[in-house]
Amino acid sequence: TIEEIILRVILDSRGNETVEAEVHTDYGFGQAAAPSGASTGTYEAKVRPPREAVRDAEKHLIPSLIGEDTRDQITFDARLREIDGTPDFSSIGANVAVALSLACAKAAASSLDLELFHYLGGAFADKTPLPLGNVIGGGAHAPNATSIQEFLVVPTGASGASEGVFVNAAVHRTVKAILQKQGKLSGKGDEGAWAPAISDTEAFEIISEAIATVSDETNIEVRMGIDVAASELWDGKQYRYKDAVRTREEQVAYMADLVDRYNLIYIEDPLFEEDFEAFADLTAAVGDRCLICGDDLFVTNVERITKGVETCAANCVLIKPNQIGTLTETFEAIRLAQKSGMETVMSHRSGETTDATIAHLATAFECIFLKTGVVGGERIAKLNELIRIEELI
Ligand code: PGA
Ligand code: ZN
Repeated sequence: TIEEIILRVILDSRGNETVEAEVHTDYGFGQAAAPSGASTGTYEAKVRPPREAVRDAEKHLIPSLIGEDTRDQITFDARLREIDGTPDFSSIGANVAVALSLACAKAAASSLDLELFHYLGGAFADKTPLPLGNVIGGGAHAPNATSIQEFLVVPTGASGASEGVFVNAAVHRTVKAILQKQGKLSGKGDEGAWAPAISDTEAFEIISEAIATVSDETNIEVRMGIDVAASELWDGKQYRYKDAVRTREEQVAYMADLVDRYNLIYIEDPLFEEDFEAFADLTAAVGDRCLICGDDLFVTNVERITKGVETCAANCVLIKPNQIGTLTETFEAIRLAQKSGMETVMSHRSGETTDATIAHLATAFECIFLKTGVVGGERIAKLNELIRIEELI
């Protein structure tokens, strides 16, 4: 049972304030921090300013959580929902909620002397996800760079996570070398991807070359993916790229063409967050050879995933615990997606801390990929944890 809960304000990778929670029980201890997004979906649970939210929680929330059983995660999360009383955690704040919910699970695992992935995934959790990481990016994560938010790679030929982590890093380094040779080397965006002032087409070509080089050197197949974050490009009528404007129909055709031209294995948010219909058109066209993944479309929300299942909008669901606010609802979103024949990808946010919990969640819940960047302290915290988990399996 919970003896003490501490909330504090800590730094995130963008230099902003975020919330960290500590849960202490008679035999256990858990600590977790909330990440934060820049291209957040309209339907995400609501974040509150950290200092204000912590002050309120210390007064009105924490006292009623003392004495709760950390091993009863469902009841703990239901208490958070009940005390909050809103559909989107706007009362206690989704940042406070997710930090507490994850810290509760970690305290329970610690009290049983289990790793979190074992506690949540059981004795048969025996496979780590492959790392999916961005090597070039722009959009809301870096101004003056590409229109498409993220150009991603995944080491599909890797024997496991640890091999894959180094393959992705090799692609990231090779992209740097190519950019340097072309005189286009830049700084990095919020998630550690290169953010050069180049067109989307140039980015595709550079990464194709980097992938070919690394695949040759390592004999490991690497495939490309993208996160369009299309809600950021949609102006209410059309998709506005730096160098082009596309209607809904043109956007679907453009995405389908990219799948074939660059052998894409993954497209996230190819259409804006309301357009289940155009999502379904694209999934019907290329879903047999490419994962069409909803992030802002689904926001880790069971109701929106249900709508996605009914409309055949996608074949993959992005999972971000802080979009919904509790571990229980994160699990429910994953279970619904998987039962409906969809893949799931566990994801970081653009604003992160060194918290590595999502590496455990991705393993416990059998996600196909862990999307968490390639380099940078707050990204490698997750990747290195995945290497440790793979060693334990
Ligand atoms: P965000 O972006 O964390 O800034 O929302 C990540 C994403 O769109 O996947
Ligand atoms: Zn996204």
